[in-house]
Amino acid sequence: MEYIYGKKTARMDGTTLAARLGGYAEIGLDLGTGDGRYVEQVARQNPQQFLIGIDACRENLVKVSNRAAGNTLFLIANAEALPAELSGLADFITLNFPWGSLLTGLLETESRLIANLRMVAKAGARLELRLNESAIRQAGWSLDRACGQVVMNLEKAGFALNPACRLALADLRRFPSSWARRLGSGQEGQTLFLSGGYREQRVGEIADRKSA
Ligand SMILES: C[S@@+](CC[C@H](N)C(=O)[O-])C[C@H]1O[C@@H](n2cnc3c(N)ncnc32)[C@H](O)[C@@H]1O
Repeated sequence: MEYIYGKKTARMDGTTLAARLGGYAEIGLDLGTGDGRYVEQVARQNPQQFLIGIDACRENLVKVSNRAAGNTLFLIANAEALPAELSGLADFITLNFPWGSLLTGLLETESRLIANLRMVAKAGARLELRLNESAIRQAGWSLDRACGQVVMNLEKAGFALNPACRLALADLRRFPSSWARRLGSGQEGQTLFLSGGYREQRVGEIADRKSA
């Protein structure tokens, strides 16, 4: 897999990654990390956690990876084709304000993105999504319909979701990501917060296996 440190990039294999992650209580993945500010802040506040920020756009990651703390790693990867080295690694996964294929991958049933979420999640992994109305409208959906669709797709894939709640502008302004600050101005509509966990196996899958 390709990681970035400042203006340079290099490859890391699974053995080296395992050595980097050794001794940490929890591993978190932030997909579509943007400029990585969220990963940087969470890692600073939680030294017992190791945070991996992933984005398809390498330019976004140059600055943050240059000053990265020891408990962070920044990968250049498409969330629809995550490196196999990340399989079963994540204790928690965040997708904050997804747009483009990161968002449409949540809106499509059995998408490659959702398959990749399943691939990287440990059993019981926590999942957090923050969905903003402006991106959802651009994708051609209303916020409520999109929310229902995302919940249905994720539940079908083995995630259990809590009821969605709306984030107040004050919450957005406090949230440590660059995109949240922008949304905190209130110019771009509502933002929904969804949280849940990965159950690993759906009831249907367990029944299928028993009858096989
Ligand atoms: C609106 S920005 C949010 C950035 C960050 N999460 C934040 O809160 O500031 C969406 C990010 O998702 C990334 N992205 C979109 N599709 C992606 C994909 N398929 N794989 C990885 N990153 C993707 C974009 O490059 C962009 O950085």
